Amino acid sequence: MKKSLQTSRWAIALAAALAVQCAQAATPAAPLDAAQQRAAKLVSQMTIDEKISMVFGYFGTEFQGKQPPKGALPQSAGYLNGIERLGVTPQWLTDAGIGVASQPGKNTRERTSLPSGIATAATWNPRLAFEGAAMIGKEARLSGFNVMLGGSVNLAREPRNGRNFEYTGEDPLLAGIMAGEQIRGVQSNHVISTLKHYAYNDQETGRNHVNVKIKDPAGRMSDLLAFQIAIERGNPGSVMCSYNRVNGPYGCEHDHLLNKVLKGDWGFKGYVMSDWGATHSTIPAALAGLDQQSGYPFDKSPYFDGALKEAVQNGHVPESRLDDMVKRILWAMAAHGVLDNPVKVQDSQIDYTAHGRISQADAEEAIVLLKNQGNVLPLSPSLKRIAVIGGHANKGVLSGGGSAQVYPRGGMAVPNEGPESWPGPMVYLPGSPMKALAARNKARFSWHDGKDTAAAAKVAADADVVLVFATQWTSEAADVRTLSLPNKQDELIAAVAKANPRTVVVLQTGTPVTMPWVNEVAGVVEAWYPGTNGAEAIARVLTGEVDASGRLPQTFPLSENQLPRPTIDGIDLPKDTRFDVDYDIDGAAVGYKWFDLKGHKPLFAFGHGLSYTSFTYTNLKAQAVDGSIRVTFDTANSGARAGKAVPQVYVSKVGSGWEAPKRLGGWDKLALNAGERRGSTVTVDPRTLAVFDGATNRWKIAAGEYKVILASAADAPAQTVTVRLAAREFAAGAR
Ligand code: BGC
Repeated sequence: MKKSLQTSRWAIALAAALAVQCAQAATPAAPLDAAQQRAAKLVSQMTIDEKISMVFGYFGTEFQGKQPPKGALPQSAGYLNGIERLGVTPQWLTDAGIGVASQPGKNTRERTSLPSGIATAATWNPRLAFEGAAMIGKEARLSGFNVMLGGSVNLAREPRNGRNFEYTGEDPLLAGIMAGEQIRGVQSNHVISTLKHYAYNDQETGRNHVNVKIKDPAGRMSDLLAFQIAIERGNPGSVMCSYNRVNGPYGCEHDHLLNKVLKGDWGFKGYVMSDWGATHSTIPAALAGLDQQSGYPFDKSPYFDGALKEAVQNGHVPESRLDDMVKRILWAMAAHGVLDNPVKVQDSQIDYTAHGRISQADAEEAIVLLKNQGNVLPLSPSLKRIAVIGGHANKGVLSGGGSAQVYPRGGMAVPNEGPESWPGPMVYLPGSPMKALAARNKARFSWHDGKDTAAAAKVAADADVVLVFATQWTSEAADVRTLSLPNKQDELIAAVAKANPRTVVVLQTGTPVTMPWVNEVAGVVEAWYPGTNGAEAIARVLTGEVDASGRLPQTFPLSENQLPRPTIDGIDLPKDTRFDVDYDIDGAAVGYKWFDLKGHKPLFAFGHGLSYTSFTYTNLKAQAVDGSIRVTFDTANSGARAGKAVPQVYVSKVGSGWEAPKRLGGWDKLALNAGERRGSTVTVDPRTLAVFDGATNRWKIAAGEYKVILASAADAPAQTVTVRLAAREFAAGAR
């Protein structure tokens, strides 16, 4: 019974794959680009064993007593042998989106860390996303790697997801653009970037077993749209398929997601690699569009080694499909300069000082000023006594855990307080925010570690201003059960605020947290995980050396009860249990869209963030142009100091038919001196005006009236105009 089920499963997949090939044969094939021609020529010279060596990847680190191949770099994520006689380099793979990561162990490499992905998204500044990624891509190349396992664009549909810190927020347009720029940045170094985790890997709980249920059109307008935009903007060499199942099949043997959507509708030319341990078969996976098995021995079996060779020789997998896998890998290597620019370890050439500054620039624009009552910030130069409490602010800044972990130069600033083994340790990067503040403000600083609430409150009572550093460590492989700050920090903050209302809470979190004390404190600052030089960045924002110009890329809920799933599905199930998670509850209404739809008032809205100056938004005009909307407006700095504004353009269909009342259609980020006014032009992404029609597999913009809302946050409209659009439709991969 089991065997016949298995056989029919791949027979169906084979039929589907052949159907795709026939459909492709019916439409004239696009001419091969130069990299594709080069890839085809190389494949034509390969033996079947050589082809197999290109599609079967090893973990780069010892695992359960098994040693990696000799060529692998120490503590690395992956390795594939090269083919010397044809000039094909080995593939050296490293995590990931925040910098050159290491698996834990003795030989971790110490590199520059960017702020977390969510922090970079909070800059709303695509240039910073590019520059940061170009910097870590350079460190990857100088460390001997030619494939990087980031950008990462899973939507923050589940705010308790332990990996939200790696991603770029809850909105598909913002997330896709920022991740796309990260991909471009990495690849500007002739290093392949890998967009992950495709798709719907939006929670870590049960990630290997969970079956995500979602209707395809809802996905095309949410999670998949983020991937689509990141791919068209970044052109990644590779996409990593995810652990979870989607409407039945695993992400890495998903004909619809891989063959049809990614390679078919979106015309992705690169290759699909599996996540580590996410390959579950040979024939179904090969026919469904997986091009490279990764990280063996994480998987139960070396599916793409001897078993794939046998399947090809038996005709169960056409040799043309194996050729296609290898051509895709070689296309990426040729198109992104990996073949022509061989890597070698040259880490002594890394300019850590310059790279720290690039990371710092990102962190400074990422910090979000959430609340600033009575202008408690920036810290006045005339303060006499400042108390600093908690969060190891006398030593370092927090980072997120798991495969993305970048180990800091100078070692961990605080002994591990997290898990002993992976996804631990909990790493604080050296650099004390308190010292960085003390270097800038003449007040007397007093320190308390915050472990004894009453004693901390006593220290607070004596100060002019209190800064409580609150932390939430999140990591791969685990979600947070609630959005509350851990380790009784809510109690600490409440006690400190009671002792001294001039309290500012500085958060270092991977994802939103709830704030039962928000009305008792004067200020709240979200610094995320701020990366190398994070301490300097925090100090510069708190003292006002730079404006606070981050804006939330994720809604901060008032409580878990406002979420589509008040409890995370699967969180109480025994390990390895299979279960469903129903994403049709929210469908495409992710994040602020859900809050709008339900009329929930969040704690802090998507797009929110204060500045030390003030801005006015005027002259909003909108025009239908080329099937979309061109929006123009003016932003003026109406305050007394320089600052950065993030005017946001939301669109709304009058009469609707949409998943939610409004969608982000575009934005601008502007640096303005006091009194300065500047005009912006924003062209709305047409997909944010359309509904994806599953029946015809096309985007459809309905004729009618559309509201264009200029706003400083999802809940803070400044001006609205209406524009009429004609009906328009376009292909799934077009815009
Ligand atoms: C993660 C991937 C990562 C891979 C290699 C997996 O556990 O999900 O994001 O790239 O490991 O380290």
